[in-house]
Amino acid sequence: MDLSVNYMGLKLKNPIIVGSSGLTNSVEKVRNLEKEGAGAVVLKSLFEEQLLMEQEKSNDQNEFDYPEAMDYMKAYAAEYSYSDFIQLIKGAKAAVNIPVIASVNCVSMGKWTDFAKKIEEAGADALELNISLLPSDMYKTSAQNEKTYFDIIEAVRKQINIPIALKMSHYSAGLAHLISQLSFTKMVDAFVLFNRYYAPDINIEDYSITSAGVLSHRENLSDSLRWVALLSEKIKIPIAASTGVHEGEDVIKQLLAGATVVQVVSTLYKNGISHLAKILQETQDWMAKKGYQNIEEFRGEISYDRFNEPEAFERIQFMKYFGGFE
Ligand SMILES: Cc1cc2nc3c(=O)[nH]c(=O)nc-3n(C[C@H](O)[C@H](O)[C@H](O)COP(=O)(O)O)c2cc1C
Repeated sequence: MDLSVNYMGLKLKNPIIVGSSGLTNSVEKVRNLEKEGAGAVVLKSLFEEQLLMEQEKSNDQNEFDYPEAMDYMKAYAAEYSYSDFIQLIKGAKAAVNIPVIASVNCVSMGKWTDFAKKIEEAGADALELNISLLPSDMYKTSAQNEKTYFDIIEAVRKQINIPIALKMSHYSAGLAHLISQLSFTKMVDAFVLFNRYYAPDINIEDYSITSAGVLSHRENLSDSLRWVALLSEKIKIPIAASTGVHEGEDVIKQLLAGATVVQVVSTLYKNGISHLAKILQETQDWMAKKGYQNIEEFRGEISYDRFNEPEAFERIQFMKYFGGFE
């Protein structure tokens, strides 16, 4: 059975990518992920702020765009610096045969984009840009927020020739339009839907803000499943489904919705990296049961493209499931 896929020009032996996280922050870990069957890895992200710090060091300047974050960033950078990041790309490329995708977490188009070239030179097969925009600024319109995506992509594209995957959030009043416009730029080679944000909670005893949980649950799958199903046939660019993929069944659902690949993180934190083999086996078993020889035979089978009016489809489903619930 052939599980191979073509993800933005990269040949993957199967569609399961280990997403950017602490699971991919060392050469040793990446080597073990390859052994367990990962189709590709996205290395732990370097933050835009770290790249800015690196530049200011070399320019001998002390200015920093986010002074309040300086102390935290210094401590963070001591743990995982720009040079660690470059070494990780080089080391991982030398150690494994699967594609190695580097990752930068960014929020603005700034001087940091000059560093993109170094990522390509270090040998990364592609760059995933995690553009972490939270549209929380009362003085910014949606158009201004959305422009940031285009500005960053354009600046990075000028620097590199390797494929660029754009990891984004679902926060947009015109998400389908935004993704389609980004796809028309021809500067984005894949979309990663979606990033998982820090989930806030409140401790009612000491009034502090806490984390609602770092790891996702299977119930979190439906958000990306909806958007993959809505967009996969309409945009001509591969989609990596991310968030809530925990078992083989979830992989199959995302492929049926039209994803080209999936990314997994939380499930490996919960179940250990040997869980990759189980997910792959479940995917293969289902394909064998249904008589499929390769993924293209069923990918996109359940995308919403068959419905001329997806919003009407969603509305009817809402009425059906919620309207009659007593
Ligand atoms: C512990 C942890 C660390 C993460 N670090 C990063 C990171 O450095 N860069 C990034 O783009 N995403 C990061 N993520 C987000 C994951 O790549 C992924 O998008 C998210 O966890 C949703 O996938 P999941 O449901 O399979 O966990 C991290 C997630 C976790 C749980």
